[in-house]
Amino acid sequence: MLPGLLLGALLCYVGRVDSGKILVVPVDGSHWINMKVLVEELHSRGHDITVLRPNDTWYIKEDSPHYHSVTVNFSAGFNEEDFGSMATSIISLRRAGGSLWHRMSVEVETLLNFRHFHLTTIAMIEQIFEDGELMQSFQEAGYDLVLTDPAMGTGVLLARRLGLPLVLNVRWTLQGEGHGAIAPSPLSYVPIPGAELTDKMSFTQRIKNILFHLFTRLQIAFIIDPNYGPLVQRYFGVHYMELLQAADIWLMRTDFTFEFPRPTMPNIVYMAGFQCKPSKPLPPDLEAFVQSAGEHGVIVMTLGTLVGGLPEELTEDIAAAFAQLPQKVVWRHTGKRPSTVGNNTLLLNWLPQNDLLGHPNTRLFVAHGGTNGIQEAIYHGVPLVGLPLMFDQLDNFSRVKARGVANVLDLTTVNKDSFLSALKEVLHQPSYRDKMQRLSELHRDQPIKPMERAMFWIEFVMRHKGAPHLRTDSYKMSTVQYYCIDVALCLLAVLLLFLLISVSTLRFLWRKVVCRSKAKHE
Ligand SMILES: *[C@@H]1O[C@H](CO)[C@@H](O)[C@H](O)[C@H]1NC(C)=O
Ligand SMILES: *[C@@H]1O[C@H](CO)[C@@H](O)[C@H](O)[C@H]1NC(C)=O
Ligand SMILES: *[C@@H]1O[C@H](CO)[C@@H](O)[C@H](O)[C@H]1NC(C)=O
Ligand SMILES: *[C@@H]1O[C@H](CO)[C@@H](O)[C@H](O)[C@H]1NC(C)=O
Repeated sequence: MLPGLLLGALLCYVGRVDSGKILVVPVDGSHWINMKVLVEELHSRGHDITVLRPNDTWYIKEDSPHYHSVTVNFSAGFNEEDFGSMATSIISLRRAGGSLWHRMSVEVETLLNFRHFHLTTIAMIEQIFEDGELMQSFQEAGYDLVLTDPAMGTGVLLARRLGLPLVLNVRWTLQGEGHGAIAPSPLSYVPIPGAELTDKMSFTQRIKNILFHLFTRLQIAFIIDPNYGPLVQRYFGVHYMELLQAADIWLMRTDFTFEFPRPTMPNIVYMAGFQCKPSKPLPPDLEAFVQSAGEHGVIVMTLGTLVGGLPEELTEDIAAAFAQLPQKVVWRHTGKRPSTVGNNTLLLNWLPQNDLLGHPNTRLFVAHGGTNGIQEAIYHGVPLVGLPLMFDQLDNFSRVKARGVANVLDLTTVNKDSFLSALKEVLHQPSYRDKMQRLSELHRDQPIKPMERAMFWIEFVMRHKGAPHLRTDSYKMSTVQYYCIDVALCLLAVLLLFLLISVSTLRFLWRKVVCRSKAKHE
């Protein structure tokens, strides 16, 4: 009896210390695929997870063994149909030509779509805040923290409204790349995403970097500020960036095998590769296909979860190029079957990407530049041929290209010949594979695994109810204070005053000396 009670008490005690309640506010689509990896790990450690989702969500299931869900009766309009048509229109615009005009149209099209997503998000936030019953239930649930992806504003605002500690799973914020929101980012050696530059910039490249920075600021001024600004003012009376910058921990989905060296902050935790796992054996039929490639090896191709199909003429070209190679090809392809598919190519609706990349027979990965793709390629040391389609995928590839581990194609001009020669270059030039394996070694050589590190910091925030000692309040300063312009002006004034006094004293003394010597002479 007594030992049982003791055990019970002990279990209660352990439960109180080790398991927390976490409210997860994800971003739908591919971002959720990443977030889900964290949710499953947190669940396996005994934490109790609640996921907030709109009722028409595309990826976030209502029922799961890993979390409870709270469904908001709101149509967020982020679904396969809308997203698919947006992707198709961006791809066809990019295919139409590489002129400045076409590039601008792609930018404008993308911006308008994002504006639409932000507007619906804002409407959803208002609905949540005004739903007294829902807010009450959040309050009563007694969460320990909010975990969110700040690419959209919902989680950040909700955390402040509920007065809860905040942990971010971040690559993008409302104002661009994550670091930019809290860490100093000198434009002389921190390349702005989209500019496709490195940390070593010539004079003209620095001009380009600054122009891209101004363009980003312009987007913020027209798309983000006018929409999030008034809402946040109304509920919190501050600027929305202040809510974001008050986050306790920033779990960055990147590290310095991918990112160029740059200033960082004590509450930024790098967890790139947290989703990577050692590969498992392939299903027998796939294993047989991969083995049949023999010494030539296998090429794996997938363009991610968001984009099912490419324009037909392009898939025809790609299939024809593959058919000319001695390698075997495993291609995740969901659209119409190209007529040019060779007998060395296996088309699949879905493929075990991680297990294929970890297979010793895999020589090359053709990818579009989404997180999991590039990260898993780095983890397994497989060189890349890139076919970036939209958003930050171009920038992602420009970073790995700078390391010499990827050959990147331009969607506007790619055809059968350029695709084939890119494949052959990566297959036959050993430097791609060597450099990728070196990058992989660097990425894996860490004292603690990225997932363990992420878990440690989430639990740290729960144990200590936040991490204010890791965060500066520098964002609350005005520009004048931040750059010490007031101090510089004050010191300058003192210096001028000193000079003025010295000069007049000297002149005064000089005159006296001259007067005296004149008097002597007379
Ligand atoms: C989601 O909720 C909204 C608002 O109540 C409703 O109009 C819409 O039909 C719902 N959608 C789904 C898929 O249930
Ligand atoms: C959403 O609507 C359904 C059915 O109309 C209802 O059962 C559910 O409680 C509503 N959820 C919220 C959070 O209001
Ligand atoms: C595959 O196609 C090539 C060229 O078209 C041909 O030489 C080869 O015999 C074919 N292999 C199989 C297994 O059908
Ligand atoms: C680009 O890479 C970053 C970091 O690895 C990742 O978070 C992001 O999702 C990637 N972009 C796309 C479009 O997948």
